[in-house]
Amino acid sequence: MSGNLIIKNAAQLVTCSGFKAKQGKEMSDLKIIDHGAVVIEAGLIKAVGKTDDVLAGIDEIDAREKGFDIIDAAGKAVLPGFVDSHTHLVFGGHREEEFSWRLRGDSYMDILKRGGGILNTVRATRAADDEELFEAGIQRLDSMMSFGVTTVEGKSGYGLDHDTEIKQLEVMQELDRRHPMDVVRTFLGAHAVPDAYKGREDVFIDYVIEQVMPDVVEDNLAEFCDIFCEKNVFSVDQSRRFLLKARAMGLKIKIHADEIEPLGGAELAAELGAVSADHLLQASDHGIAAIAKAGVVATLLPGTAFCLKAPYARGRYMIDADCAVALATDLNPGSCYSESIPLVFALATLYMNMSIEEAITALTLNGAAALDRADVIGSLDKGKLGDVIILGYPSYKFIPYHVGVSCVEKVIKKGKLVFSK
Ligand code: NIG
Ligand code: FE
Repeated sequence: MSGNLIIKNAAQLVTCSGFKAKQGKEMSDLKIIDHGAVVIEAGLIKAVGKTDDVLAGIDEIDAREKGFDIIDAAGKAVLPGFVDSHTHLVFGGHREEEFSWRLRGDSYMDILKRGGGILNTVRATRAADDEELFEAGIQRLDSMMSFGVTTVEGKSGYGLDHDTEIKQLEVMQELDRRHPMDVVRTFLGAHAVPDAYKGREDVFIDYVIEQVMPDVVEDNLAEFCDIFCEKNVFSVDQSRRFLLKARAMGLKIKIHADEIEPLGGAELAAELGAVSADHLLQASDHGIAAIAKAGVVATLLPGTAFCLKAPYARGRYMIDADCAVALATDLNPGSCYSESIPLVFALATLYMNMSIEEAITALTLNGAAALDRADVIGSLDKGKLGDVIILGYPSYKFIPYHVGVSCVEKVIKKGKLVFSK
């Protein structure tokens, strides 16, 4: 396939039309076209509308000769590809033992304090070679793509030393080159305090700023910088210092904010004008108002709250407070070993009281905005990438209704069919 594709007769074309994040009430408007069609040429969307209108000037035989494939989507709903804007997809080893300890009552932070948790994965990732990480990464991307994800973000943060942080980012760069999905890279060099720096967090931050970050920037290995701003990890002051340096070096900012304790990460994200503040389980009313006002995307990760048996982030409250909410999986080997989009939909709609329409906006246009790409992906609009999913059902409402099961029948990336059931 050439990246030239016509999708016609869609029962519902859920365009999610827009070029910037949707806030509050705007999130409910999916801009649906019944009996819709999309034309994609050389990977980019060229036309969107009613099938009769879009195909009026197109002779199908002629189009096929010009290399267009044609998919008849009669009886199917068609949406933009999902954007999973927060994952930790490249890591060595697994932590199934820790999961069983948590079932017995150990807390996530206690396991980290004992040198397990993130530090356990750091040891395994340091020991893994590039090929191992790459192969595991390909398998995870294939699985994500089968759920309809066409763009994914991936973070480093399991190296916490120069070479391993660079190794993780280089593996993601290679994954981006060799897998159909787009992989957006985030430098999370301040994800935990390595054993050798216990009690010397500021010294570790200096090390990352001085010894690692310049090479990440120079080799163009990341677009975003992130930090785990959390009690007993990095304080708000340390996070501010770290992120200001990152920004000065040209990286855009994300924050793991208010995940376990209400530390003020949301307020910091607003103060710094971060692109997104992520987790926010414990975000204060004041912090939520601040990110709504500052236009920081609130990226919620309900799979993590579910796995940690923690209270969900207040998605309903945030949307009512006019936030732009995105949803993502947080796929990682510890707090949420799941790339399941159906799980995220189920939790967001049934337990965070988001409407189906809001959840779709959160996984498409607002996910794109969380990656500073709302102008190029996240909706079916002319000029955007031809990233499209076709469901096996006539309505988007089947997505949470067919609970825990993927409704995605076909995935199209830049006009090419990359997954079909
Ligand atoms: O987003 N909270 C920090 N980082 C990840 C978990 C990483 C891990 O446990 O390996 C998160 O939940
Ligand atoms: Fe995370």
